[in-house]
Amino acid sequence: MNILVINGSPKGTRSNTWKLTTAFLEGLKQSLSETGTEAQVEELQVNRLDISPCLGCFSCWNKTPGQCCIQDDMQQVISKLLWADLTIWSFPLYYYTVPGGLKTLIDRQLPMVLPFMVENESGTGNGSHPSRYDMSGKKTVIISTCGFYTAEGNYDGIYSLFDHECGRNQYTAIFCGQGELFRVPEVSGRTNEYLSYVKQAGQEYAQGGISPQTWEKLNQLLFPKETFEAWADASWGIDPNTSSKESDTLIFTRQMAALYQKDSYPGKDLVLEMYYTDVDECYQILLGKDGSKVYTDHSLTATTRIETPVTLWRSIAAGEIRGDEAMMQQLYKVKGDFSFMLNWDTYFGSGTPKADSPASTAASPQKETNMNILLIPWIVLWIAAAIDRHWGCLATIGVCTLVPLFFYRNRKTIYDILTGALVTGISIAILSGAPTGLMVPLSYLAFGVMWLSSCFGKIPLTAHYSKNGYGGEDALQNPLFMKTNRILTMLWGILYLFTTVFTWFLMRTSFSSYTGLINSVLPIFMGIFTAWFQKWYPAKVARGK
Ligand SMILES: Cc1cc2nc3c(=O)[nH]c(=O)nc-3n(C[C@H](O)[C@H](O)[C@H](O)COP(=O)(O)O)c2cc1C
Repeated sequence: MNILVINGSPKGTRSNTWKLTTAFLEGLKQSLSETGTEAQVEELQVNRLDISPCLGCFSCWNKTPGQCCIQDDMQQVISKLLWADLTIWSFPLYYYTVPGGLKTLIDRQLPMVLPFMVENESGTGNGSHPSRYDMSGKKTVIISTCGFYTAEGNYDGIYSLFDHECGRNQYTAIFCGQGELFRVPEVSGRTNEYLSYVKQAGQEYAQGGISPQTWEKLNQLLFPKETFEAWADASWGIDPNTSSKESDTLIFTRQMAALYQKDSYPGKDLVLEMYYTDVDECYQILLGKDGSKVYTDHSLTATTRIETPVTLWRSIAAGEIRGDEAMMQQLYKVKGDFSFMLNWDTYFGSGTPKADSPASTAASPQKETNMNILLIPWIVLWIAAAIDRHWGCLATIGVCTLVPLFFYRNRKTIYDILTGALVTGISIAILSGAPTGLMVPLSYLAFGVMWLSSCFGKIPLTAHYSKNGYGGEDALQNPLFMKTNRILTMLWGILYLFTTVFTWFLMRTSFSSYTGLINSVLPIFMGIFTAWFQKWYPAKVARGK
């Protein structure tokens, strides 16, 4: 398949739109090569071509039919247009139509048509010119970005032009608003997500057509209108009251504030104070129920203060450095309420529009792990088997057989499976006559060893479960989260080794049937400690102490 790509952006390959076009092309080529179709691609960068405006002399119709009187790069363009099976037009929207250079190229296609007036077969307008060449079977894709928040309603001129040129519904058009965001590293999470849909579109196009699901993704806004417009206004760096130029650091802070998701409002106003240590500038962002506002006079009381070089924070915002890793290395400090940091993604969003925005789709719910699935079989064993070895163990086995039912709603972990096997095994052993005085302490030992040994693996046991409250799988990349969980898992493991010894002696007293109940007291305190430690330890690291 011969593919011609025409980039009409005056910015050439630095164009926003070009990013979409290369993504589409990548998907297209990938899919074609999978089906064994050879793809030859030619690129034309209009900004590098020498194409003069049409003189309107019609000599290409009368004096030298099919040949323009101007000798420039247009002859090469026409031969490529005739060579191509598929032409991809890539351009930004300029004044609701194509940029001037591309319009000149389009005008200069006149030698490709015959002068005669014929009925318009495509049903657009009144009259057209027949093609001088056999263009049947050739395909057209148009890819464009524009500056407003949406492409909707802005592309009438383009539709009109290509409806006449190719025929209505005879081409595929991908139009995307908020185009300038494709050059902003701070929002690359969202723009890369969008580019992945464009690539997907390219793959599907090669297989016969873009699916409705992919169209739905392509038609989503990058950001909600309000967020984008606040961000775009801030990017000019002009003080709306004085019209004076603002510092780059203030512009950056305003753009950060613009990304605030007001539907994450926690019920009280929050003030994030950013102190940029390298430039000695300090700004406060008020996060309220109606949106965010940047204060330059430090008149507010900060909820949370971040002390960071602006260069570092920019790199974090651009995704070049992980914020949690930088915190772990104490490259910046956080003072005041640390919980703000834990909810950062909720307040400032990952870039994916929220459910109430016009661009939203229903997110597919991710199954979560559940620590109760791990704990309940052990607790039943410890309480029930100690009270009545026969019925207690039968009840425990019953609970273990019910556990798989939870996996319809919850994600299972290796420790859930291990628990099922260990608890069932211990129960069967007791039912078969093994002494409870031995088996119950052994069960505590098994439980403790399970926790302790996980500390030496990649993911400590508690992390499998507590990640649910800290951004899911992403939390496992967070070194501070992992270290906190490693410490906690170790402490729980040690507690249960201690419990093993304690139980061994307890089982030999008249309180043996209360073992399970007595042994529940310490974990309650340990649970309270865990809840406190999970917040205290990361905050301590963040304070830089
Ligand atoms: C001269 C000029 C005219 C523009 N006209 C429009 C317009 O009519 N509608 C719009 O939404 N954006 C308009 N824009 C914004 C561009 O379409 C937008 O920045 C686009 O993403 C640039 O893409 P590019 O980097 O591929 O050239 C205009 C930009 C310029 C420089």
